[in-house]
Amino acid sequence: MRIYREKDYNAVSRRAAAVIAAQVVAKPDCVLGLATGSTPIGAYKQLVEWHKQGDLSFAEVRSVNLDEYFGLAPTHDQSYRYFMQTNLFDHVDIVPENTNVPSGLAQDAAAECARYEQVVADLGYADLQLLGMGRNGHIGFNEPCAEFPVATHLVDLTQSTIDANARFFASADDVPRQALTMGIGTIMRARSILVVVSGADKAEAVRKTVNGPVTPEVPASILQLHPNVTLIGDEAALSGLK
Ligand code: GLP
Repeated sequence: MRIYREKDYNAVSRRAAAVIAAQVVAKPDCVLGLATGSTPIGAYKQLVEWHKQGDLSFAEVRSVNLDEYFGLAPTHDQSYRYFMQTNLFDHVDIVPENTNVPSGLAQDAAAECARYEQVVADLGYADLQLLGMGRNGHIGFNEPCAEFPVATHLVDLTQSTIDANARFFASADDVPRQALTMGIGTIMRARSILVVVSGADKAEAVRKTVNGPVTPEVPASILQLHPNVTLIGDEAALSGLK
């Protein structure tokens, strides 16, 4: 695992954007695995800026997002589809049909999970998968559990995740209790992985991910076994590392 220690969130965002842009330049029709949450927002802003300056095109890029709240419409302002539209897709030249996010309104969650896993497989999995990290070490919405879930699945969110994400909703009661997420196997099939972390509330999860044992109780710890992972964090998020 390559680790970059940056002085603050802006520096994390700029370096993360540079890694993503390098992927797009090297392989214009690459498959980008994209993530939501507050951490990647700065990187997306930088990518939009480079696109507007004429330095970066997403015209041939295909994208697969990690996850979506189960029960939220794509037009809901807290859905991950809406997040991707407003933070990236609406501001660059990516072809709408080439963007993929699990459908939060699917009637049959199991069928939607199987469909989505097949979409990612048919694209050959991600060339570069961007990941944030939950305070409990979750990636996508793979919460701590007894066994690593392999494929896209429906997950019950933990109270810690519901509490952490409540800041985006009117109240904690409005946070969906379930989500559809790529599995750990789906994520690990990406050819390269870029993790972005910022802030002291991630320090413990980062420490366990990098220095702890590989365990499904800390889902991100599986990344120790991936051959091509880059982790970019600010001083606060990396403060627990040896
Ligand atoms: C959500 C998302 C994750 C994200 C995490 C951390 O739970 N499903 O993909 O990494 O939040 O978000 P933030 O970057 O806002 O701390």
